Amino acid sequence: MTRSLTELPNQAPDDIPAYPMPRAQRCPLDPPPALSALRSDGPMTRVRLWDGSTPWLVTRYAEQRALLSDPRVSADTTREGYPYQSESLRDRYLSIVHSGRRRVAVGDIEVAGQVIRAGEGIVMPNEIANRDAEMFPDPEGLDVHRDARGHLAFGFGVHQCLGQPLARVELQVVYGTLYRRVPSLALAADPAQIPFKHDGVVYGVYELPVTW
Ligand code: HEM
Repeated sequence: MTRSLTELPNQAPDDIPAYPMPRAQRCPLDPPPALSALRSDGPMTRVRLWDGSTPWLVTRYAEQRALLSDPRVSADTTREGYPYQSESLRDRYLSIVHSGRRRVAVGDIEVAGQVIRAGEGIVMPNEIANRDAEMFPDPEGLDVHRDARGHLAFGFGVHQCLGQPLARVELQVVYGTLYRRVPSLALAADPAQIPFKHDGVVYGVYELPVTW
């Protein structure tokens, strides 16, 4: 590998946006407005992480699927330049795995007219790709009946979640059983006071007081 994550491409602009980006106050499930703007500009953007490195940020569904299934994109954390987990990347948006899949290119790859060089980092925020209007019409609307087959919540390609059949069964059995057995179940705390796991790799809550 001759290039590193901290190296800027020759034509890199000076105003590379920082990632992750602050989100709006209205709904914690919404992606940051600035990230949505980058997505509308194009599927590939150079961003600056807290350590000064400038990996590629990939926001569109089709490009994420293509990259995640490309063997030249490695998830080997021992490789030099693997974009690692940071405090700021842990500042996330309420999916349990939504800090972006992180990879390093082990060969040159062209995606959407941009060349990712061997050794460069790639961050693929799957929660943003899951709101790609070209894949999911009206992506910002909550629609539990939508045809969301093919989403990227469990990743894609060779490292796609091994536990997803178990997770699907657990969620179907647990929620159905819980609401049937305890129909009066309700939150017993101010939502703003619930402690979230901002310091973990997998998101969630430390405690969730309930009443019934
Ligand atoms: C709703 C629950 C879950 C979600 C949203 C989820 C999401 C994901 C995602 C996005 C990845 C891909 C990581 C990447 O490409 O870098 C992944 C990988 C993985 N998940 Fe899950 N997961 C869930 C539950 C589980 C459970 C219950 C298990 C085990 C019992 C599990 C085991 C794994 C393993 C072993 C991998 C790594 C696969 C590999 O690197 O080849 N997951 N998961």
